[in-house]
Amino acid sequence: MAILDILKLPDPALKQLSEPVSEFDDELLAFIADLEETRLNGPAAVGIAAPQVGYARRIVIIDCSTTRKPVPNHGHLVLVNPEITHWEGYEPGREGCLSVPDYTGNVIRATRIHLVAQDPHGSPLEFDMEGYEARAAQHEIDHLDGMLFVDRVVSRRADLFKRKVYQKGGKRKN
Ligand code: NI
Repeated sequence: MAILDILKLPDPALKQLSEPVSEFDDELLAFIADLEETRLNGPAAVGIAAPQVGYARRIVIIDCSTTRKPVPNHGHLVLVNPEITHWEGYEPGREGCLSVPDYTGNVIRATRIHLVAQDPHGSPLEFDMEGYEARAAQHEIDHLDGMLFVDRVVSRRADLFKRKVYQKGGKRKN
């Protein structure tokens, strides 16, 4: 296992479109283990996406089970080739990102989604998600399409906020 380097804005690799995973092999499992170790390193993030460590494949990890305020969630999820098939409702909410360490931002997201994906062995997965978990999934899947939350704020002046302190060891959003 290894802690991987997290690419930061404005690294152009963050803007790439990631390719679907087609081989569910030991190499994939080893990468997912590294990605998870990287997510948990430092200020543990609620989510991480493969392109954030420079691997342009459609893989994300989210875990909303340890947020400060409890939220409805499906626990620790490794989602390979995730796809949102249904969106419902919209609300703004504050987001952060390991690739944008100095800012948080208000982003409008669907409040409920239906998501299909594969697990690390290629078996199909399906979830109805709401609220914070739905937001985390939308944020991470955006990474697979080369989108960062800063690309989604309505107004950079009104909706982006400079972080005062980078909370070492504290909880971070997304
Ligand atoms: Ni992010």
